[in-house]
Amino acid sequence: MRFLRVALFIAPLAVGVQIDRQGRETYDGYKVFRVVTDDEQLTGFEAQLGSLSAIELSRNRGHIDAHHFDIAVPPESLDAFEALNYEAETLTEDLGADIALEGELQPFPGLEKSTSGVAAAALPSFSWFSAYHPYADHLTFLKSLQAAFPSNSELITAGTSFEGRTIQGIHLWGSGGKGSKPAIYYHGNVHAREWISSITVEYITYQLINNYSNDTAIKAALDNYDFYILPIVNPDGFVYTQTTTRLVRYPSPPVLATCGGESLLRGVGTDINRNWPNGHWDGAGSSTSPGSETYRGEAPGDTPENTGIRIFGDKLGAGKGIKLYIDFHSYGQYILTPYGYSCSATAPNQSKQDTLARNTGAAIAAVHGTRFTTGQTCATLYATAGGSNDYFTDVTTAELAWAIELRDTGTYGFTLPANQIIPTGEETWAGQKYLWANF
Ligand SMILES: *[C@@H]1O[C@H](CO)[C@@H](O)[C@H](O)[C@H]1NC(C)=O
Ligand SMILES: *[C@@H]1O[C@H](CO)[C@@H](O)[C@H](O)[C@H]1NC(C)=O
Ligand SMILES: *[C@@H]1O[C@H](CO)[C@@H](O)[C@H](O)[C@H]1NC(C)=O
Ligand SMILES: [Zn+2]
Repeated sequence: MRFLRVALFIAPLAVGVQIDRQGRETYDGYKVFRVVTDDEQLTGFEAQLGSLSAIELSRNRGHIDAHHFDIAVPPESLDAFEALNYEAETLTEDLGADIALEGELQPFPGLEKSTSGVAAAALPSFSWFSAYHPYADHLTFLKSLQAAFPSNSELITAGTSFEGRTIQGIHLWGSGGKGSKPAIYYHGNVHAREWISSITVEYITYQLINNYSNDTAIKAALDNYDFYILPIVNPDGFVYTQTTTRLVRYPSPPVLATCGGESLLRGVGTDINRNWPNGHWDGAGSSTSPGSETYRGEAPGDTPENTGIRIFGDKLGAGKGIKLYIDFHSYGQYILTPYGYSCSATAPNQSKQDTLARNTGAAIAAVHGTRFTTGQTCATLYATAGGSNDYFTDVTTAELAWAIELRDTGTYGFTLPANQIIPTGEETWAGQKYLWANF
């Protein structure tokens, strides 16, 4: 999803940022609206967003000539927004109250110790999935998963972030041994505020390990593919949303000089998912302005995060090849196939991809009734230049390279309550299980 900070030439209203006891920005009194505009209103509306100091949460093409935006409007700007008289639906009366439903960040109780040398430790408690957790605990959780599956997994790293954090993950394999099969490759949390994406990727990892020895379909998946899983590919941004400002997309690296002092508050910089050198990096669907949250960077692939995960993915492609790549995002409930750069270009095996995406959606819906929209990225959502699906399709030549936008469709948006982590995991798992057996 995008986040656009536009029209910086209009002086924003002075918004008094409220800070909680942990030093994090609160969103008390912010209201979230879904606003519909047509093409003619679009430019004016984008300018007004800036002057209202509104946060753009998402946008959607919807229909050919209608756009809808989800925006969070600070209390100081509510009267001014209402005076503009847009067609708008209220999604949230108080964003601060929604964020409270995410719950406190819970520390991980600790690594289980293996009692007998190289024997597997117990899997960490499933209660991990009852809450969101601090970044450091995600790393301990990964170590703990690895210790529970010692002969069939290892921890992996894919480069270093702008602020010097190692991008960490886990590699799982089956009976053929390490690195013997084509890759299934998952990324989570490239956009900082999309917390449900990392914990859902962890849910898939957990269930793969949990059921390798007692579910034949899972055994088959792991015996046929090597899984490479990076739950948090943007660690700097993730940490920033936990310590400072919850709702930034926070790309890398932050840009201060060109955007004015406010940019650090909003975490403006390069969008790692508009930075892939996929041959269409400078096309429509990204921004040349360092003040925009879809800023593509100065040159293709110039962010350290992109470099790390790209080199890692390139190696997989050049090795046994990539069967499936998925970039997990939120929100909106979409399963998106290539391409993002063009609404008319078709990817290899496009109709097979479309069918698989629809059936994955059906497998997801069968669990809790959650409906996903499926289709090609540009035609379904909006144009994206420099996105990872296009890169993995054309450069790394993955057979399938998709993005999945997880729950919900805007009620809670990025701040999905903690009690939806397990249902989200269950349905996403069912979708992946369908794919592994049918692609
Ligand atoms: C088998 O699956 C069940 C249900 O998910 C799980 O509770 C159990 O721990 C698994 N057992 C093994 C040996 O993997
Ligand atoms: C794990 O395997 C058991 C036994 O086959 C099955 O009942 C259970 O649903 C599986 N769990 C998951 C999460 O797939
Ligand atoms: C198209 O699908 C076929 C059948 O699954 C597969 O063998 C082939 O590699 C795919 N082509 C590409 C370019 O991914
Ligand atoms: Zn995203």
